[in-house]
Amino acid sequence: MSEPSLLIDNLHVTVEGREILRGVNLTVPRGETHALMGPNGSGKSTLAYTLMGHPKYKVTAGKVLWKGQSLLDLTPDQRAKSGLFLAFQYPVTVPGVSMVNFLRQSLRAVRGKEVAVRDFRKDLKSAMDVLKMDNQFVTRYLNDGFSGGEKKRAEMLQMAMLKPEMAILDETDSGLDIDALRIVSEGVNSLAGPELGVLIITHYQRILNYIKPQHVHVLYRGRVIVSGGPELVGRLENEGYDNIIKEFGPADDDAPQAAA
Ligand SMILES: Nc1ncnc2c1ncn2[C@@H]1O[C@H](COP(=O)(O)OP(=O)(O)OP(=O)(O)O)[C@@H](O)[C@H]1O
Ligand SMILES: [Mg+2]
Repeated sequence: MSEPSLLIDNLHVTVEGREILRGVNLTVPRGETHALMGPNGSGKSTLAYTLMGHPKYKVTAGKVLWKGQSLLDLTPDQRAKSGLFLAFQYPVTVPGVSMVNFLRQSLRAVRGKEVAVRDFRKDLKSAMDVLKMDNQFVTRYLNDGFSGGEKKRAEMLQMAMLKPEMAILDETDSGLDIDALRIVSEGVNSLAGPELGVLIITHYQRILNYIKPQHVHVLYRGRVIVSGGPELVGRLENEGYDNIIKEFGPADDDAPQAAA
Protein backbone atom coordinates (compact mmCIF):
# COMPACT_ATOMS: atom_id res chain seq x y z
CA MET A 1 0.00 0.00 0.00
CA SER A 2 1.31 3.40 -0.84
CA GLU A 3 1.94 5.89 1.94
CA PRO A 4 -0.67 8.57 2.54
CA SER A 5 -0.05 11.62 0.41
CA LEU A 6 -1.12 15.14 -0.08
CA LEU A 7 -2.50 15.30 -3.59
CA ILE A 8 -3.30 18.61 -5.22
CA ASP A 9 -5.19 18.25 -8.47
CA ASN A 10 -5.89 21.07 -10.91
CA LEU A 11 -6.34 23.57 -8.09
CA HIS A 12 -7.72 26.97 -9.03
CA VAL A 13 -7.92 29.67 -6.38
CA THR A 14 -9.10 33.25 -6.51
CA VAL A 15 -8.28 36.00 -4.06
CA GLU A 16 -10.54 39.03 -4.03
CA GLY A 17 -11.91 38.05 -7.42
CA ARG A 18 -8.53 37.55 -9.05
CA GLU A 19 -7.40 34.10 -10.11
CA ILE A 20 -4.00 33.40 -8.55
CA LEU A 21 -3.70 29.63 -8.72
CA ARG A 22 -4.54 28.38 -12.18
CA GLY A 23 -4.39 24.60 -12.11
CA VAL A 24 -1.78 23.49 -9.59
CA ASN A 25 -0.88 19.81 -9.68
CA LEU A 26 1.38 18.53 -6.94
CA THR A 27 1.75 15.34 -4.90
CA VAL A 28 3.74 15.05 -1.71
CA PRO A 29 3.93 11.54 -0.25
CA ARG A 30 4.54 11.09 3.43
CA GLY A 31 8.19 10.37 4.14
CA GLU A 32 9.51 12.73 1.49
CA THR A 33 10.69 16.33 1.56
CA HIS A 34 9.57 18.48 -1.35
CA ALA A 35 10.49 22.07 -2.07
CA LEU A 36 8.07 24.43 -3.78
CA MET A 37 9.93 27.33 -5.29
CA GLY A 38 9.10 30.17 -7.59
CA PRO A 39 9.59 33.87 -8.13
CA ASN A 40 7.85 36.49 -5.98
CA GLY A 41 4.13 36.66 -6.59
CA SER A 42 3.91 33.27 -8.30
CA GLY A 43 1.29 32.07 -5.80
CA LYS A 44 3.30 30.07 -3.26
CA SER A 45 1.79 31.65 -0.15
CA THR A 46 -1.62 31.57 -1.78
CA LEU A 47 -1.26 27.79 -1.97
CA ALA A 48 -0.17 27.62 1.67
CA TYR A 49 -3.11 29.77 2.82
CA THR A 50 -5.52 27.71 0.75
CA LEU A 51 -4.25 24.49 2.32
CA MET A 52 -4.62 26.16 5.69
CA GLY A 53 -8.27 27.00 4.98
CA HIS A 54 -7.95 30.78 5.03
CA PRO A 55 -11.42 32.18 4.19
CA LYS A 56 -10.07 34.81 1.78
CA TYR A 57 -8.81 32.17 -0.64
CA LYS A 58 -11.65 30.71 -2.70
CA VAL A 59 -11.22 27.41 -4.47
CA THR A 60 -13.03 27.64 -7.79
CA ALA A 61 -11.93 24.32 -9.31
CA GLY A 62 -9.85 21.25 -8.59
CA LYS A 63 -9.37 19.25 -5.43
CA VAL A 64 -6.97 18.53 -2.61
CA LEU A 65 -6.88 15.02 -1.19
CA TRP A 66 -5.16 14.32 2.09
CA LYS A 67 -4.89 10.65 2.99
CA GLY A 68 -7.65 10.01 0.46
CA GLN A 69 -10.04 12.50 2.03
CA SER A 70 -11.06 15.89 0.65
CA LEU A 71 -9.01 18.42 2.59
CA LEU A 72 -11.10 21.34 1.43
CA ASP A 73 -14.14 19.94 3.25
CA LEU A 74 -12.33 20.07 6.59
CA THR A 75 -12.20 23.05 8.94
CA PRO A 76 -8.72 24.37 9.77
CA ASP A 77 -9.08 22.69 13.14
CA GLN A 78 -9.93 19.33 11.57
CA ARG A 79 -6.97 19.72 9.21
CA ALA A 80 -4.61 20.02 12.17
CA LYS A 81 -6.25 17.05 13.88
CA SER A 82 -5.80 14.96 10.75
CA GLY A 83 -2.03 15.28 11.00
CA LEU A 84 -1.35 18.33 8.88
CA PHE A 85 0.93 21.02 10.24
CA LEU A 86 0.87 24.44 8.68
CA ALA A 87 3.46 26.76 10.00
CA PHE A 88 2.34 30.25 10.73
CA GLN A 89 4.13 32.54 8.33
CA TYR A 90 3.54 35.50 10.63
CA PRO A 91 3.46 34.03 14.12
CA VAL A 92 1.21 35.90 16.50
CA THR A 93 2.49 37.38 19.69
CA VAL A 94 0.71 36.00 22.71
CA PRO A 95 1.79 37.97 25.75
CA GLY A 96 0.97 36.14 28.95
CA VAL A 97 1.05 32.70 27.34
CA SER A 98 4.34 30.94 27.86
CA MET A 99 5.80 28.61 25.24
CA VAL A 100 5.11 25.68 27.56
CA ASN A 101 1.45 26.56 27.94
CA PHE A 102 1.05 27.28 24.28
CA LEU A 103 2.52 23.89 23.40
CA ARG A 104 0.23 22.12 25.87
CA GLN A 105 -2.76 23.94 24.45
CA SER A 106 -1.91 23.08 20.87
CA LEU A 107 -1.32 19.43 21.80
CA ARG A 108 -4.66 19.31 23.59
CA ALA A 109 -6.38 20.90 20.61
CA VAL A 110 -4.84 18.54 18.07
CA ARG A 111 -5.24 15.35 20.11
CA GLY A 112 -8.65 16.32 21.41
CA LYS A 113 -7.77 15.36 24.97
CA GLU A 114 -5.70 16.49 27.92
CA VAL A 115 -2.08 15.39 27.85
CA ALA A 116 -0.70 14.02 31.12
CA VAL A 117 1.88 16.36 32.63
CA ARG A 118 4.51 13.65 32.92
CA ASP A 119 4.15 12.58 29.29
CA PHE A 120 4.13 16.17 28.16
CA ARG A 121 7.36 16.94 30.04
CA LYS A 122 9.01 13.84 28.65
CA ASP A 123 7.99 14.70 25.09
CA LEU A 124 9.04 18.29 25.51
CA LYS A 125 12.44 17.27 26.83
CA SER A 126 13.10 14.93 23.94
CA ALA A 127 11.85 17.44 21.36
CA MET A 128 14.14 20.08 22.83
CA ASP A 129 17.04 17.66 22.80
CA VAL A 130 16.45 16.83 19.16
CA LEU A 131 16.32 20.52 18.30
CA LYS A 132 19.19 21.37 20.67
CA MET A 133 17.17 24.00 22.51
CA ASP A 134 17.86 25.71 25.74
CA ASN A 135 15.56 24.91 28.66
CA GLN A 136 14.75 28.48 29.58
CA PHE A 137 13.41 29.14 26.09
CA VAL A 138 10.09 27.42 26.76
CA THR A 139 9.28 29.43 29.87
CA ARG A 140 9.22 32.65 27.87
CA TYR A 141 6.02 34.20 26.59
CA LEU A 142 5.12 33.13 23.12
CA ASN A 143 6.75 35.32 20.49
CA ASP A 144 6.86 38.25 22.88
CA GLY A 145 10.10 39.91 21.96
CA PHE A 146 11.22 36.82 20.06
CA SER A 147 13.79 37.40 17.37
CA GLY A 148 13.09 36.01 13.90
CA GLY A 149 15.27 33.03 14.74
CA GLU A 150 13.48 32.43 18.03
CA LYS A 151 10.11 32.49 16.31
CA LYS A 152 11.39 29.85 13.96
CA ARG A 153 12.65 27.82 16.91
CA ALA A 154 9.20 28.06 18.49
CA GLU A 155 7.65 26.88 15.26
CA MET A 156 10.02 23.93 14.99
CA LEU A 157 9.36 23.00 18.61
CA GLN A 158 5.63 23.11 18.00
CA MET A 159 6.12 20.85 15.01
CA ALA A 160 8.29 18.42 16.99
CA MET A 161 5.64 18.22 19.71
CA LEU A 162 2.64 17.82 17.44
CA LYS A 163 4.36 15.11 15.37
CA PRO A 164 2.41 15.83 12.19
CA GLU A 165 2.31 13.48 9.22
CA MET A 166 2.72 16.36 6.79
CA ALA A 167 4.24 19.76 7.42
CA ILE A 168 3.79 22.71 5.11
CA LEU A 169 6.27 25.45 5.84
CA ASP A 170 6.04 28.77 4.04
CA GLU A 171 9.38 30.44 4.54
CA THR A 172 9.17 33.06 1.87
CA ASP A 173 8.11 36.24 3.54
CA SER A 174 9.29 35.76 7.05
CA GLY A 175 12.40 37.86 6.65
CA LEU A 176 14.61 34.95 7.45
CA ASP A 177 18.18 35.79 8.19
CA ILE A 178 20.77 33.11 7.68
CA ASP A 179 20.57 31.93 11.31
CA ALA A 180 16.82 31.56 11.17
CA LEU A 181 17.18 29.69 7.91
CA ARG A 182 19.63 27.33 9.55
CA ILE A 183 17.25 26.74 12.47
CA VAL A 184 14.41 25.79 10.16
CA SER A 185 16.69 23.61 8.09
CA GLU A 186 18.16 21.79 11.06
CA GLY A 187 14.69 21.39 12.51
CA VAL A 188 13.33 19.91 9.30
CA ASN A 189 16.36 17.69 8.87
CA SER A 190 16.17 16.31 12.40
CA LEU A 191 12.41 15.70 12.20
CA ALA A 192 12.28 14.36 8.63
CA GLY A 193 11.90 10.61 8.25
CA PRO A 194 9.50 7.96 6.99
CA GLU A 195 6.75 9.29 9.28
CA LEU A 196 6.85 12.87 8.03
CA GLY A 197 6.20 14.53 4.71
CA VAL A 198 7.46 18.08 4.26
CA LEU A 199 6.55 20.71 1.71
CA ILE A 200 8.89 23.61 2.16
CA ILE A 201 7.90 26.74 0.31
CA THR A 202 10.55 29.30 -0.47
CA HIS A 203 11.98 31.47 -3.16
CA TYR A 204 15.43 31.31 -1.64
CA GLN A 205 17.68 28.85 -3.33
CA ARG A 206 19.98 29.08 -0.35
CA ILE A 207 17.66 27.20 2.01
CA LEU A 208 18.34 24.20 -0.19
CA ASN A 209 21.98 24.35 0.81
CA TYR A 210 20.78 23.08 4.17
CA ILE A 211 17.74 20.99 3.34
CA LYS A 212 18.03 18.32 0.70
CA PRO A 213 14.60 17.79 -0.80
CA GLN A 214 13.99 14.69 -2.91
CA HIS A 215 11.78 16.70 -5.23
CA VAL A 216 11.70 20.31 -6.31
CA HIS A 217 8.77 22.05 -7.99
CA VAL A 218 8.74 25.46 -9.59
CA LEU A 219 5.53 27.47 -9.41
CA TYR A 220 5.10 30.21 -11.97
CA ARG A 221 1.99 32.27 -12.66
CA GLY A 222 -0.13 29.97 -10.59
CA ARG A 223 1.00 26.66 -12.06
CA VAL A 224 3.74 24.15 -11.39
CA ILE A 225 5.72 24.48 -14.60
CA VAL A 226 8.43 21.93 -13.83
CA SER A 227 9.19 19.30 -11.21
CA GLY A 228 12.48 17.55 -10.79
CA GLY A 229 15.02 16.11 -8.43
CA PRO A 230 17.81 17.86 -6.57
CA GLU A 231 19.50 18.61 -9.90
CA LEU A 232 16.85 21.29 -10.45
CA VAL A 233 18.18 23.09 -7.38
CA GLY A 234 21.60 23.18 -8.99
CA ARG A 235 20.12 24.70 -12.11
CA LEU A 236 18.21 27.30 -10.11
CA GLU A 237 21.36 28.15 -8.21
CA ASN A 238 23.37 28.63 -11.34
CA GLU A 239 20.80 30.13 -13.67
CA GLY A 240 18.10 31.67 -11.48
CA TYR A 241 14.48 31.46 -12.56
CA ASP A 242 14.77 33.14 -15.94
CA ASN A 243 16.12 30.24 -17.97
CA ILE A 244 13.86 27.73 -16.26
CA ILE A 245 10.84 29.91 -17.02
CA LYS A 246 11.97 30.37 -20.62
CA GLU A 247 12.33 26.62 -21.03
CA PHE A 248 9.23 25.39 -19.20
CA GLY A 249 7.04 28.44 -18.66
CA PRO A 250 3.90 29.33 -20.57
CA ALA A 251 3.82 31.54 -23.61
CA ASP A 252 3.69 35.27 -22.88
CA ASP A 253 0.01 35.57 -23.75
CA ASP A 254 -0.79 33.22 -20.89
CA ALA A 255 -0.68 35.89 -18.20
CA PRO A 256 -3.22 35.75 -15.37
CA GLN A 257 -6.32 37.79 -16.12
CA ALA A 258 -7.41 40.53 -13.78
CA ALA A 259 -11.01 40.32 -12.59
CA ALA A 260 -13.48 42.43 -14.50
N1 LIG B 1 -4.99 38.52 0.38
C1 LIG B 1 -4.67 38.96 -0.84
N2 LIG B 1 -5.30 40.02 -1.37
C2 LIG B 1 -5.00 40.46 -2.62
N3 LIG B 1 -4.08 39.89 -3.41
C3 LIG B 1 -3.42 38.84 -2.94
C4 LIG B 1 -3.68 38.31 -1.63
N4 LIG B 1 -2.87 37.25 -1.43
C5 LIG B 1 -2.14 37.14 -2.56
N5 LIG B 1 -2.47 38.07 -3.46
C6 LIG B 1 -1.86 38.25 -4.80
O1 LIG B 1 -1.61 36.98 -5.33
C7 LIG B 1 -0.37 36.94 -6.03
C8 LIG B 1 0.49 35.84 -5.47
O2 LIG B 1 0.86 36.15 -4.16
P1 LIG B 1 1.58 35.13 -3.19
O3 LIG B 1 1.73 35.80 -1.88
O4 LIG B 1 0.85 33.83 -3.21
O5 LIG B 1 2.99 34.98 -3.91
P2 LIG B 1 4.30 34.24 -3.41
O6 LIG B 1 4.68 33.28 -4.48
O7 LIG B 1 4.08 33.69 -2.04
O8 LIG B 1 5.36 35.44 -3.40
P3 LIG B 1 6.60 35.69 -2.41
O9 LIG B 1 7.75 34.93 -2.98
O10 LIG B 1 6.82 37.16 -2.52
O11 LIG B 1 6.21 35.26 -1.03
C9 LIG B 1 0.23 38.33 -5.87
O12 LIG B 1 -0.02 39.04 -7.03
C10 LIG B 1 -0.51 38.90 -4.69
O13 LIG B 1 -0.62 40.30 -4.77
MG1 LIG C 1 4.91 34.10 -0.14
